[in-house]
Amino acid sequence: MQTTQSEVSADTIDLALGHPSPALLPLELLREASARRLRQEDRSCLQYGYEQGDLRFRAQLARFLSWGYAAEVSPEELFISGGVSQALDLICTLFTHPGDRVLVEEPSYFLALRIFTDHGLRIGGLATDRHGLVPEALRESLRKTRPAMLYTVPTHHNPAGTTLPADRRERILELCREHGVLLVADEVYHLLTFAGAPPPPLGSFAGSGGVLSLGSFSKILAPGLRLGWIQGARPLLRRLATCGFLDSGGGLAPFTSAVVGGLLERGTQETHLRKLRGIYGSRARTLVAGCSKLLGVAEEPPAGGFFFWGRLPGIADTEALLPEARAAGVTFVPGSRFSTLGGQREFLRLSFSYYEEPQLEEGVARLAEAARRFRPPGKGP
Ligand SMILES: Cc1ncc(COP(=O)(O)O)c(C=O)c1O
Repeated sequence: MQTTQSEVSADTIDLALGHPSPALLPLELLREASARRLRQEDRSCLQYGYEQGDLRFRAQLARFLSWGYAAEVSPEELFISGGVSQALDLICTLFTHPGDRVLVEEPSYFLALRIFTDHGLRIGGLATDRHGLVPEALRESLRKTRPAMLYTVPTHHNPAGTTLPADRRERILELCREHGVLLVADEVYHLLTFAGAPPPPLGSFAGSGGVLSLGSFSKILAPGLRLGWIQGARPLLRRLATCGFLDSGGGLAPFTSAVVGGLLERGTQETHLRKLRGIYGSRARTLVAGCSKLLGVAEEPPAGGFFFWGRLPGIADTEALLPEARAAGVTFVPGSRFSTLGGQREFLRLSFSYYEEPQLEEGVARLAEAARRFRPPGKGP
């Protein structure tokens, strides 16, 4: 059976895929780290785990995040999750009721929208611009409705690639606090910044309450590990750690976190992350240079993350281009998939995480060929 997360066809260049390249999955590092952990006599990682996550692992993770975020993170404000998706699902279970409203960016990460729908939540889209969520749109919405939470991807947004400036982060936080709205920040791409440093993650404000910041090893190590974290104030984490699910099954991923803890301890994760930043940054530039040359796109390469979001001159609805693109041996995600308001039709999302540069160039050439056949005469670049 093919699923949303694992569909890869051999003769198509699938620029929809948000997976790391197989060659970037660190098999050797994990083989060594698992063997090192299994040679120890300590069997605690094979036992039911402590609900909030193993303390030693949380200390290792806190040190890694303090380095990555350039801001102090304490083990007490970390809860170990099975990745961002699992964390979101648990947050919905514990902090929302069916029929509640959740506010999201327009456009937003479409698979998070599916999790909200599973929980019977009503989704409200908020305006964004090239700097991300517009605080005024949030203020206006909060004047009229009382949502259970705001879900945002503040840094290297999926799909839009935007990063919220520091002043907007503070304003959004202030508005959520004023209205008693839980702010759920999906910061899964924060550490994947190609150059420089983004503004402090919303996790940095978690200590004073009202914020849950979600992170994951999916993009910086391997998605198959299903390992991540939630950063938040203690009362919020206590609610997570005392739920029935953990009461019955214990803390999440005790074995995986013991293995990954070894990589954090030895600085291997840091080295691997630096390598990924270089590779993905270069791929992003190659992809966008091709799009600019062959397709006439005007957008700049993204500064981090996995995706390029852009418009193709002369194409008003990228969904309509898909059959032609498939026939040319390339696919992408049309912008409409990310919209809660039936918009974003002129955009498309291209991923540069899965393919190496020559294949990305070939994918763009195929897309340009498809666009050339599809466009009305005289509407091309
Ligand atoms: C914004 C965003 N959040 C969450 C995820 C999934 O994260 P995880 O593998 O930790 O569940 C993705 C993966 O594409 C993503 O783009």
